[in-house]
Amino acid sequence: MNPYGHFDDDHREYVITRPDTPLPWLNYLGCEEFFGIISNTAGGYSFYRDAKLRRLTRYRYNNVPLDSNGRYLYIRDGNDIWSPTWKPIRATLDRYECRHGLGYTQIIGQRNGIAVTTRHFVPLGRTCEVWDVRVRNTSPHPKRVQLWGFIEWCLWDAMDDASNFQRNYSTGQVEVEPQAIYHVTEYRERRNHYAYFSSSVPTAGFDTSRNAFVGVHEGLDAPRAVVAGNCTNSIAYGWQPIGVHQIDLDLSPGEEKRLHFLIGYAENPDDKKFSPGMVRKGQLVANKAPAQKVRAELANSSAIDAAFAELKDYWADLLSNYKAEVPDPHVSRMVNIWNQYQCMTTLNLSRSASGFESGIGRGMGYRDSNQDLLGVVHLQPQRSRQRIIDLASTQLSDGTCFHQYQPLTKKGNADIGGGFNDDPLWLPLSVYAYIAETGDNTILAERCPYADKPDAASTLMDHLELSMNYTLRNRGPHNLPLIGHADWNDCLNLNCFSTTPGESFQCAGDIAGSVAESVMIAGLFCAACDRMAAIYRLLGQEAKAADVLARKAEMQKAIETNGWDGQWFLRAYDAHGHKVGSKESEEGRIFIESQGWCVLGGVGSKDGKARIALDSVKKHLATPNGIVLQQPAYSTYHVELGEVTSYPPGYKENAGIFTHNNTWIQCAEALLGDGAQAMEYFLSICPSKKEEQIETYRCEPYVYSQMTAGPDAPTPGEAKNSWLTGTAAWSFVAISQYILGITPSPAGLVVNPCIPPSWKGFAISRKFRGKTYNIDVRNPRGVCKGVNRMTVDGQTIDGNTIPLNLGGNIVSVQVVLE
Ligand code: BGC
Ligand code: NOJ
Repeated sequence: MNPYGHFDDDHREYVITRPDTPLPWLNYLGCEEFFGIISNTAGGYSFYRDAKLRRLTRYRYNNVPLDSNGRYLYIRDGNDIWSPTWKPIRATLDRYECRHGLGYTQIIGQRNGIAVTTRHFVPLGRTCEVWDVRVRNTSPHPKRVQLWGFIEWCLWDAMDDASNFQRNYSTGQVEVEPQAIYHVTEYRERRNHYAYFSSSVPTAGFDTSRNAFVGVHEGLDAPRAVVAGNCTNSIAYGWQPIGVHQIDLDLSPGEEKRLHFLIGYAENPDDKKFSPGMVRKGQLVANKAPAQKVRAELANSSAIDAAFAELKDYWADLLSNYKAEVPDPHVSRMVNIWNQYQCMTTLNLSRSASGFESGIGRGMGYRDSNQDLLGVVHLQPQRSRQRIIDLASTQLSDGTCFHQYQPLTKKGNADIGGGFNDDPLWLPLSVYAYIAETGDNTILAERCPYADKPDAASTLMDHLELSMNYTLRNRGPHNLPLIGHADWNDCLNLNCFSTTPGESFQCAGDIAGSVAESVMIAGLFCAACDRMAAIYRLLGQEAKAADVLARKAEMQKAIETNGWDGQWFLRAYDAHGHKVGSKESEEGRIFIESQGWCVLGGVGSKDGKARIALDSVKKHLATPNGIVLQQPAYSTYHVELGEVTSYPPGYKENAGIFTHNNTWIQCAEALLGDGAQAMEYFLSICPSKKEEQIETYRCEPYVYSQMTAGPDAPTPGEAKNSWLTGTAAWSFVAISQYILGITPSPAGLVVNPCIPPSWKGFAISRKFRGKTYNIDVRNPRGVCKGVNRMTVDGQTIDGNTIPLNLGGNIVSVQVVLE
């Protein structure tokens, strides 16, 4: 069905069996401080904490071929030269297999009786990446082969590296020791960190100058030194420093040799930067002690095996927090393995570094990371706590938020714009999710200064209230929230009026005193009110709970009065007070986001508007590949609507299928009780299902892509922007909380599934507040929803919340739907 590969669920791996995938299919290495992206042909790069400011290896964007530069190996076997990861030489392999696993990638390449297996991973607690290499002679003859390991250094700041050649062609410096190359560019001046590339075995040569190893006119597919059969032992001084080790191997028939390379990052305190007594003219000698320590600790294969086993245990342990047994294999592998893995990736990297995000432009997004937390609070409560505080600390004292912060400095910046009026409202959602999961409400009293008032004595609770009040204080003529620069839909720039070619829509100026309003923010506000009310109740602050619910009722009223268009919710009012997303509009008549959020905010639940809105979504927006963002697509540029009309029809926010907002409709359908529809939508964007149409879909079938081309595009069903998307967290919320319906709350787990009637049942094993809940749900009458009977350790209970105090460490819950 899929000629490029298949899932191996037992090993939690995706197995790629052909290197020429429709696009590079990526994986991530690292889960703490040291990260890398790696493609199925070993392309990609590594960085320490921040893909922009601490980039270790160089990547070439938008190049031919697309995925250029990586962790490359070369083999020379007689006169035959080839790469075991296919690229960069692309000589035909007798066998190729890439296994992307959780935090590691293993690639096997075999040619002419030599099989090379390389496993890449980042050991826990370390700031280095291992390439664990095995070379086997599968032929009946003795063989002498040469192996080169190659990387190209990035001169730290990835932006400067890619643009400031007048300076950076003259800054590159390295130091070489036996088996280790140290990249020390700018270490002589203000940096206290360097990188290294080391070999576990003695080498037959090295190169550190790209011009010497590759040549000026040659490509990575035929480096001069590999063609010639020997390294030149070059020492880079400016230009493009690289790291290459040459290893000569004699292999008898059937013999395997194992070795490894490390790419590492090390720091020294300022007063220990240089080795005493080793200052040479023109070159200070860096203090290598921290790198040497790591190299010594990881010197042999048993240390590498132990580090890998530890990583495997880490993931097995994480995924043991939530396990589902469900009748559908696609749902099963997504919810148990890949969706949770992708959620961890978005926690780590927000929208910074992927095949579609350069690692230069964006750091940790305020709205993005708050939403990402919804998918990981059950996996990483401590890190979620810290992240919430970091995010809240980039809120300003007027309630607005820096739209992103740089992971290395944790300082917010306005580089990708600001004034997005939805931003503040995502904080109540993430804080509530954290508290519901952990029960830890001490976080509310945590001191959290404002970004513009670092000495403020404000608490997290102050930030939450400021966020809610921000929306209330910034309403327009229809009593709906002002949109500001844009809301979740970054491209709905109702105040931008940009006519300058190339100007960033995200940053272009906003007109003063604009009245443009967002119905989506109104719905989101209602949902945030519910979270705030629950938080107040938990603190015993009933009056405040009642007050916030009164504000919600007010907003619901405004939506019902001014935000309803007859068959669906309007999307917005533009700066002139004209409706956006209305039957009166010629194009962009119905949008998805306001339907999702108004329903999730409880609007129209009593008078049927919610149901009508979702039926309109189905009628006007649903396709077999997911739900389109709006219809009809905008065929021309509208200055009053901004970037949304800048894309060709069918792409991105202009009527593309934005999978992120599809999940809100899944949740909404489940909320209203249509489990079959919720599942149909879930499967319509499910990556694993896309194996059936992979030549069209093209992106990785194991993780969500941000968008799929809509029917207005020439390539409907083609995915883009895989990996770093809010779809990850929200899909996990949709499936685990709304469809399978086990939702953490301050009072305990709430059980309220909404499944397809054809499902006979399912089971969930979930850790929660120190206990393991084994929940078995039966559906004898083939319904979607409705808990009829629930027993907890044999005891029948009223309602559908499992009380916290019931049961021991392992709690058995039996649920029957009616
Ligand atoms: C994209 C959006 C994105 C925004 C901010 C726009 O060009 O279409 O999806 O959120 O840029 O980077
Ligand atoms: C991607 C951005 O990361 C996210 O913040 C935004 O909500 C969506 N695009 C929709 O524009």
